[in-house]
Amino acid sequence: MSLRFLSTPPRFRLSKRLSTPLIKQLSHFRALLAAPSSLSMAPRDLPLMSRDEYADYPEIDMSSHCLLTSPLATRQEIPLLLNSRKLFGAGVEVGVQRGDYSKCILETWRGHKLYLVDLWRPMDDSLDPANVSLSQNRDNLAATFDAIAPFDPRAVIIREDSVGAARLFMDASLDFVYIDAGHTHHDASIDIHTWATKVRPGGLLMGHDYMSGEVSVLNHLGQEVSRFHIDVKTAVDDWAKRHSKQVHTTHEETFKTWIIEM
Ligand SMILES: C[S@@+](CC[C@H](N)C(=O)[O-])C[C@H]1O[C@@H](n2cnc3c(N)ncnc32)[C@H](O)[C@@H]1O
Repeated sequence: MSLRFLSTPPRFRLSKRLSTPLIKQLSHFRALLAAPSSLSMAPRDLPLMSRDEYADYPEIDMSSHCLLTSPLATRQEIPLLLNSRKLFGAGVEVGVQRGDYSKCILETWRGHKLYLVDLWRPMDDSLDPANVSLSQNRDNLAATFDAIAPFDPRAVIIREDSVGAARLFMDASLDFVYIDAGHTHHDASIDIHTWATKVRPGGLLMGHDYMSGEVSVLNHLGQEVSRFHIDVKTAVDDWAKRHSKQVHTTHEETFKTWIIEM
């Protein structure tokens, strides 16, 4: 299945893969599926690398990527932006699905820990096309394990809902948070409000799908199977206005990433 933003021409079909029918065996990570044991290693207790430990880190010249004068083209460039700002401590991706973007971050970002937060369970009250069955969620979780395996132990999976997971982190302890979970105004607003306090001054609060409008969900034949109203942009803009922050974006045709400097 794929998604199409309805206010754009049909050629901008999909950029978000949903799920595949393949169900993998989960025995090799059954231990992690038991949420309480995985949560016992709460990030609050983990020693984070101090900024001084990175003092000798070679700096990439990213002066051409000042967000004001030269915005990022795509979200693939965000890991470079994090490196250029020496945001090398801990970051969180909220809403992981199959770990595709986690892998993208881990491949290039030179930071210490990336926490991957996702329920990987169906949600009763959500019409979001990413809200899939339990078996598809298990397949997504298996795919995430595969995606991050090469980066162990820099990646930590937290199978929790967004708000519950945020409680595991101290305020101002994170170098960045990337939000890509619920896409309604209500869900996005809660996530932004919840995670904003967890990002340290100088860190980045970011998220996917900076748009408000109808998205068409297409099957593999390109036929519309349902519609879904995304309202992330309004939620981000409202929060930014209330906190006198500027919203930067990447420049994909659709499904842009929003970036706020904290
Ligand atoms: C669009 S997908 C994430 C895609 C991923 N960031 C990427 O770019 O590849 C959204 C994910 O958010 C998760 N999700 C939605 N609401 C959530 C919540 N309240 N807490 C935790 N995860 C949630 C869903 O389970 C789903 O896997």
